[in-house]
Amino acid sequence: MKHNVYGNTEGIRDAVLRELDDLYSYELEEGEYLPRELMKMLAEYSCRLNREIAVYLTRDGEIVHVAVGSDCDVELIDFRLRRNASRLSRVRCVHTHPDGDGHLSDVDLSALKIFRYDAMTAVGVKDGEPVNVQTAFLEAENEILMPPPVRWYQVPDRDWLNQIEVSDQKVGREETDRVPEGPEKAVLMGIESMESLEELKRLAETAGANVAGAFLQKRDKPDGALFIGRGRAEELARECQALDADLCIMDEELTGIQVRNLEDILRVKVIDRTTLILDIFAQRAVSSEGKLQVELAQLQYQSTRLIGQGLVMSRLAGGIGTRGPGESRLEMNRRRIRERMTELRRRLAEVEKQREIRRKNRERNGTPVVALVGYTNSGKSTLLNQLTGSGVYARDQLFATLDAVSRRMETPEKTEYLLVDTVGFIRKLPHTLVSAFRSTLEEAALADVLVIVNDGSSREMAAQHDTVEQVLNELGATEARRIEAVNKCDIADPWPTFPGAVMISAKTGEGLEELKRRIAQALQENHAPVTFQIPFSQYGLIARIRPLGRVISEDYTDAGTELRMVMSRENVNRLIREHGAAILKTEGEKAES
Ligand code: GTP
Repeated sequence: MKHNVYGNTEGIRDAVLRELDDLYSYELEEGEYLPRELMKMLAEYSCRLNREIAVYLTRDGEIVHVAVGSDCDVELIDFRLRRNASRLSRVRCVHTHPDGDGHLSDVDLSALKIFRYDAMTAVGVKDGEPVNVQTAFLEAENEILMPPPVRWYQVPDRDWLNQIEVSDQKVGREETDRVPEGPEKAVLMGIESMESLEELKRLAETAGANVAGAFLQKRDKPDGALFIGRGRAEELARECQALDADLCIMDEELTGIQVRNLEDILRVKVIDRTTLILDIFAQRAVSSEGKLQVELAQLQYQSTRLIGQGLVMSRLAGGIGTRGPGESRLEMNRRRIRERMTELRRRLAEVEKQREIRRKNRERNGTPVVALVGYTNSGKSTLLNQLTGSGVYARDQLFATLDAVSRRMETPEKTEYLLVDTVGFIRKLPHTLVSAFRSTLEEAALADVLVIVNDGSSREMAAQHDTVEQVLNELGATEARRIEAVNKCDIADPWPTFPGAVMISAKTGEGLEELKRRIAQALQENHAPVTFQIPFSQYGLIARIRPLGRVISEDYTDAGTELRMVMSRENVNRLIREHGAAILKTEGEKAES
C-alpha cells in the first residue's frame, strides 16, 4: 500500500498505516502548540504499536512528516537546507516515549541542536495515555533552554509558541537568510531530450539563476520515488556538491513526495519545471488580473502537493520557486489555501465580467481583433512595436510579456482593428497556468485573425509550431483566419522552409509590408462592405444594425434607408438569420448563412 509514513513501518498493518496517514490532514488551530486530542492519538498509536511516533509540525500548525521508530527510537529528520543551515528549521518535532517517561533524552537534545528544530518535545506514554511532556528550545550559541516536564494537560501552548519566536530572534534573523545573496547556482536534470533541457536552461536563466551544470538521463518514464534512479540521484548529489549548487531543477513535474525524497538525498532545494515557470510568471505579472491568475495557479499547484512534501521546506530557503504575488502567504496551510483560492476565484470572476463587458462593447462597435500568438521569445512584442511604433517590453528572455497588450491599428482601406500581443506559449505549459490564464488566452484565441509568429532562427521551429497549434486547439481557437509568419529572418541560418508563410524580420522591418497586406486582406475577407436596405416600415431596425459595424454612408431612397457599412461576416449572418435576407440591398453582397 502507498503511504507517507516514514521510518520503521515493517509489520504494521495497512489499516493502521492508513490511519497514521490521516495525521497529515490534522490541522492545529492558531495558538495551539500541541492539542490534547493530538497527544492522545499519538499516545494511543504508540501504545498499540509499541513504537515511538514522531510528527513534525510547521509554525502554521500543519503536520508535514510522520514517522515511526523501533521501540526506543525514531528516525530524526533534517529539514534544513544549505541556504539556511544556521537558522531554525521552522519545524518542531513532537514524539512519544512509550516507556512512560516524558523527559527528553540526550539523543533528543543533540538532534535539536544538529537539525535546529523550532523545538523538541517528548510525550511520555503509559497504558495508551499521555503522561508528562517536556519541551526544549535552542538559544544563542547552541545553548538549550529546557523547562521541567509538565503534566500532559498543562501544556502552556502560548508560552511555548512565544518561546519559538524568541529562539528564532536569538538564533539567527530571518531576514538575513530569507533573500539569498547573488544569483542562485542551479543544476539541471532532464529525462526527455537535450532540446527540452536547453529550454529549461533558458527558463532558469530567465528566473535569475546561474546554471552551473545540466545533465540528461534518458528514461521512458520517471522513477516513482525519486524521478531519477537512486544511483543517479546519489551521483547527482555529489555533482551538486562539487558545483556548489543551491538548487536542482528537474525538467518535468514532480510529485510532492519526489521533491521530498530528492531533497533528502541532494541536500539542496529541489524544484520542478512547473514551479520554475510559475516563478517566472510570478515575477512578470504586472496587471492586477495577471497577479491574481498567477497566485491562483501557484496555489493550485501547491495544494496538490502538500502531503509529505519538501516544498514547504524549500520555501524556507527563499529564492526561485518561492516567489509570487502571494509570497507572504506561501507558507499557508491547506485550510487557508482553500480559503484564499476561493477568494481569488471570486475576484477573478469579477475582473472577467468587466472584460466580458469590454469585449461586448468592442463587438458592438465591430472593431476586429488581430492577435499575435506564438512560442515564447519568438518576437511577438518586437513585432507589435514595429507595426505600431509603441514601446512594449521586448527582451531576450522567456515570457517577457505576460499581460495581453493591445494597440489600435488601421488598414490602408481604413478598417480599424486591435492588434493584441499575448503571453508566449511553451512546451509542457503547466496545466494550472493554462486554466488560470484561460480567459486571457481565450481572448486572443477568439480573435478574428491570428498571426502565428514563428522563430525562424530556432532549430526547434517546427516543434514549437506544434506546441502552439496544440495550445490553440485546447483553447478552441480553430475558427479564426490564420496567417503564418516566420520571424528573425535576418539571422535565420539555414533559411527556414515554411510553405505559405510570410518571411519577416521584426528587427529590420523586412517583410512587414507584406504581413500588413495579408492582415488587411484577412480582415477584408472577414469584414466586408455590405449595404442594407431598410424599408421605412422597419425603421427601428437601423438602430439595431448601426452599432454592429462601421457606418460608411447612410442615404434615404424611395425604397427606404440605405446603410452602407463594413461588418463582420458573423454579424451579417446573424442579422440575416434574425430579419431575413431581404434587408440586404444586392444579391452579390448577401453572405451565406
Ligand atoms: P515572450 O514575451 O516571451 O512571449 O517573447 P516575445 O515573443 O514577445 O519575444 P520578444 O519580442 O520579447 O523578442 C525576443 C527576442 O528576440 C528579443 O531579444 C528580440 O530583440 C529578438 N527578436 C525579435 N524579433 C527579431 C528579429 O526579427 N530578428 C532578430 N535578430 N531578433 C529578433
